[in-house]
Amino acid sequence: GEPTYILGIETSCDETSAAVVQDGRIVLSNVIASQADIHKRFGGVVPEVASRRHVENITLTIEEALSQAGRSLDDIHAIAVTYGPGLVGALLVGVAAAKAISFARGIPLIGVHHIAGHIYANRLVEEMQFPLVALVVSGGHTELVLMRAHGEYEILGETRDDAAGEAYDKVARALKLPYPGGPHIDRLAREGEPRVPLPRAWLEPDSYDFSFSGLKSAVLNTLHNASQRGETIDPADLAASFQDSVTEVLVEKTIRAAKEYKARQVLLAGGVAANRGLRERLQRRCEAEGIALVIPPLSLCTDNAAMIAAAGYIQYQKGQFADLDLNGVPGLSL
Ligand code: KG4
Ligand code: ZN
Repeated sequence: GEPTYILGIETSCDETSAAVVQDGRIVLSNVIASQADIHKRFGGVVPEVASRRHVENITLTIEEALSQAGRSLDDIHAIAVTYGPGLVGALLVGVAAAKAISFARGIPLIGVHHIAGHIYANRLVEEMQFPLVALVVSGGHTELVLMRAHGEYEILGETRDDAAGEAYDKVARALKLPYPGGPHIDRLAREGEPRVPLPRAWLEPDSYDFSFSGLKSAVLNTLHNASQRGETIDPADLAASFQDSVTEVLVEKTIRAAKEYKARQVLLAGGVAANRGLRERLQRRCEAEGIALVIPPLSLCTDNAAMIAAAGYIQYQKGQFADLDLNGVPGLSL
């Protein structure tokens, strides 16, 4: 039949993004205005600064996405916008823009959960096969999600304290590496050996939850104790040991869930999916268990609007539309 075009909008954190996706699978454009360089100076995302930049960027970003896709608003069947979770002031910019266009042009509005978006980044690469288990790891999230059908999410586990990326960033800060620290730790880890003993937070035997704050404290204590004794610790070894602990727990819990629920696919998403240690370990374990693994390219793993349009397409097909009273919900649950 006729193709369906969804305009996606994402402003939940520090990327202003708009995209046009055809039939939930084909990316016609995916424009991302990153604020990373601005927040770098502050060592983290400053919410007020993020909101202001979104306001400055949103209109041009949407126009650019339409233009790159060779489409106009007349072609758009629905507008899918992230309405949570995220920074409330940041979310509101995208939601307000989506509502304004929806109202002015009579285009249906769809509210999308940010994590659903991360999961659906995978469908821009490969068709989903259910049941599947998705591991979403970013600076703000660590979630293990079971899906038995399109648009149906069951959270198996999530972090009880720091998100995986957050732990990376905090450990990087302790090692005096620049923000965001994840990529730096990843690089450093490849030059070291995991010989520093660090804990693994398995939690209760049947739990799929995660915890990274104990590990982070153990790293800080190791550094502190060494300096007290006038010893030095090879930062590369420490990075390798930290990465080993994080990836072992993430991967083993994902594999256990995949086996328990007889998953036909394991999906990886979120900014930490860039981590080479994590990708390699998950690849190795999925291969050993004979489970198909999908990891989108990095540009689709970090925050972007194409993934929001892809998730929104499923809601479009189900007729799950939002009203003009749609609001940003910082703590939205999946
Ligand atoms: O998804 P994302 O771009 O933004 C959100 O948090 O939503 O993820 C950013 C996070 C940061 O914490 C960053 O340090 C981490 O992903 N990250 C990495 C790597 N690349 C990015 N963590 C570990 N290894 C990496 N290679
Ligand atoms: Zn995200």
